Amino acid sequence: MGTFLKLKNINLKYQIGKDSINVLKNIDLNIKKKETVSFVGESGSGKTSLIMLIGGLEKPNSGKIIFQDQEITDLSEDEVSEIRKKNIGIIFQSFYLIPNYTAAENVALTLELNNFKNPEKEAKILLDRFGLNNRFNNLPSQLSGGEQQRVAIARAIAMKPELILADEPTGNLDTENSLMIADIIFKYVKEEGSSLIMVTHDIKLANKAKRKIRIKDGKIK
Ligand SMILES: Nc1ncnc2c1ncn2[C@@H]1O[C@H](COP(=O)(O)OP(=O)(O)OP(=O)(O)O)[C@@H](O)[C@H]1O
Ligand SMILES: [Mg+2]
Repeated sequence: MGTFLKLKNINLKYQIGKDSINVLKNIDLNIKKKETVSFVGESGSGKTSLIMLIGGLEKPNSGKIIFQDQEITDLSEDEVSEIRKKNIGIIFQSFYLIPNYTAAENVALTLELNNFKNPEKEAKILLDRFGLNNRFNNLPSQLSGGEQQRVAIARAIAMKPELILADEPTGNLDTENSLMIADIIFKYVKEEGSSLIMVTHDIKLANKAKRKIRIKDGKIK
């Protein structure tokens, strides 16, 4: 089998006016299919930046990222976004649902954009799986935080991506909802055999992953 995800000597700088900050320094990382990994580290250490790079939402200043045998650092933004749409599901701390779309429409949109048949029906099946069968028509503002995150997860996994990126997926939730969200994510990963890269401050959640990677000052420890 080939390379699932490989980062080779990645450097990322942010430029603010005249100042540049080296956010990620000489990152080497190799993640296999079906692996579950958590990134832990202090605030500002570069965890979100690393997730953005892996998801192709940010480009490194130097180094290579290889995803499923393809060097994505060579590709155009459009090409990267095509790959992301089909293969990578991203879950953020703040759920980023579309405010004027209902729960079902938020999930259906992803399916529609990927030319699925019956996107609304498929969306409802997914939401039902996450205990939201009586919330299809609620707008995000009419859902609790835990419910919004479940909609966001349903949307992220709608395409059955082989890689899930989750940045503090339980960061805005209470303990009870955090446990539920963690269960949903790990159950999906196990059932579908996908890989997971998750950032979390929650040690219990971090420990659920097979591999824990500590990031300090933009470097892997
Ligand atoms: N778009 C940006 N422009 C300039 N600097 C940025 C930008 N995004 C992040 N930074 C800086 O890069 C560093 C790493 O940020 P990042 O968001 O990756 O940290 P993090 O480890 O996710 O932190 P937290 O745990 O607080 O979410 C921080 O010092 C931050 O101030
Ligand atoms: Mg962050």
